[in-house]
Amino acid sequence: MKWPAHGSNPAHLYEGAGIKQPDSIVDFSVNINPYGPPQSIRDQWNSWFSVISDYPDPYGKSITRQIAQLSQVDEQQVVLGNGAAEVIQFLGQLWRGCKVIIVQPAFSEYETACRAYGCEIEYVLINEDYTIPMKELAVKAEGAAAVFICTPNNPSGMAFSEGEMIELLDRLSSTSCCVVVDEAFYDFAGSFTVAGLIQKYSNLIVLRSLTKMYAIAGLRLGYLLANESLALQIARFRPHWNVNALALKAAETILADREFVDWSREKITEERENMFSFLEKEGFQFSRSVVNFYLLRDPRLADQKPLFLFLLEKGIVLRHTYNYPGLAGKWLRAAVKTEAENNQLKEALQQWKKQS
Ligand SMILES: Cc1ncc(COP(=O)(O)O)c(C=O)c1O
Repeated sequence: MKWPAHGSNPAHLYEGAGIKQPDSIVDFSVNINPYGPPQSIRDQWNSWFSVISDYPDPYGKSITRQIAQLSQVDEQQVVLGNGAAEVIQFLGQLWRGCKVIIVQPAFSEYETACRAYGCEIEYVLINEDYTIPMKELAVKAEGAAAVFICTPNNPSGMAFSEGEMIELLDRLSSTSCCVVVDEAFYDFAGSFTVAGLIQKYSNLIVLRSLTKMYAIAGLRLGYLLANESLALQIARFRPHWNVNALALKAAETILADREFVDWSREKITEERENMFSFLEKEGFQFSRSVVNFYLLRDPRLADQKPLFLFLLEKGIVLRHTYNYPGLAGKWLRAAVKTEAENNQLKEALQQWKKQS
């Protein structure tokens, strides 16, 4: 079958797998905050109705100001996108026809976007101990326009260390190769960020998304941070009114709601660690994620397809890893969801163990 390239929209997956979709399913393939969207959006939603009849602010001035303040950068260093996915498209356009390096496994849109603009793509696979192969990367980066690296990483949920990220930036600082650090899941880990370094490293671009933590994937809002001259070059590709008026309203409200982020991070950490104890006890392998999703595998299987299909039949939808270079079906990705939902996954995994 042709496996869908992304999580979410499980109907496509069931159709492709030729399995009748059960009446009730739990979707672990989409990695958004199970406790969102924040109540503040629900409370104000109806009052925003009037904004849909006019064009949104093409510059998203107010939200840009808020992002700049939160990230402690200048407003000129922020470029808004209709989701981080659109910002990645801008980068593809910026480096049209150039060579780009992707540290794999990673989010698939870097490659999709760069291919669409005729880039030459090279991979660097991370080491087995989850460190960056620095020397190989530095050699490949020579003559490349950019390196894409995702931390905390999608799909493993693990984060590269601060020391490694600084070493990477230092090594490439004297080259013309940009370093794109995708921090779409930064809020869930709340740990080290390179955002404060855009002034120091003029080749650094940081990607962020609001769709994950705030569970507004359907509304769409993401942005990048980069030094002013790079940000200006990238902003040329931004279509007028690219961020819709409701997304701007919602973002203004939720970015002021830091309590929601802290509370969600705590709850998700608790649920994740609980799940890890279970997986350890039951003999499954898993990635030491610091965010709201993780990789898991039954070590008895080289390809996890039988487990994946077993769970699909039971209405438990995980994310396959066939299109992640370096993983190729050896793992499955699962989101951390609410306690009740995680219990459903635990139950199904126990049934799998019993019958296999
Ligand atoms: C690592 C990573 N970056 C960026 C994105 C795109 O996020 P957005 O919903 O803001 O377009 C995703 C979406 O899954 C992602 O996993």
